[in-house]
Amino acid sequence: MSVRRGAEADLERVAALAGEVLPEAGSAASLADTLAGPAAELWVGGRETEEPAIEAFLVALRVGTELEVLWLGVAPGARRVGLATALLESALAGAGSCHLEVSVARPGAQAFYRERGFVEVGRRRAYHPGGDDAIRMQWVVEAAPEG
Ligand SMILES: CC(C)(COP(=O)(O)OP(=O)(O)OC[C@H]1O[C@@H](n2cnc3c(N)ncnc32)[C@H](O)[C@@H]1OP(=O)(O)O)[C@@H](O)C(=O)NCCC(=O)NCCS
Repeated sequence: MSVRRGAEADLERVAALAGEVLPEAGSAASLADTLAGPAAELWVGGRETEEPAIEAFLVALRVGTELEVLWLGVAPGARRVGLATALLESALAGAGSCHLEVSVARPGAQAFYRERGFVEVGRRRAYHPGGDDAIRMQWVVEAAPEG
């Protein structure tokens, strides 16, 4: 498995993957707009370690130690082998907290985030395209035990 920061050259592939698994992430042009912002980060990953194809992507905003995951998607044929976990762990390195919104229509993603220690902290009505509500989830780094 390989995980790395994405670059401009990856945007067409990421947009094609997003079109397949997470259309709300948008086109290559709108992804480029998002990633032009100073807080934005793209992470990409794949199952192979040599000449890896991009099979997973994560777009996040980082402000100080706060991370917001905007989009996370894995190709259907590459799921349940830990790619999303690897991308999220890479993005979370150095973060103190992380928040995101996940659609009520994506129970698999909710299960994934709960498994990673995220808890539900609220809801946003009709947040997603098509009118689905969003569940707001948060992760906070665990304080080291004292002593
Ligand atoms: C949600 C998603 C990103 C998970 O990617 P993934 O690479 O398969 O996740 P991982 O392999 O790292 O999964 C780790 C754990 O998360 C949980 N999990 C992942 N997908 C799950 C699902 N569909 N149902 C239940 N639990 C799930 C499991 O506990 C899993 O461990 P296991 O395989 O040993 O049971 C992927 O299914 C996806 O792209 N979905 C469509 C897009 C989406 O919903 N994105 C999130 C909204 S931004």
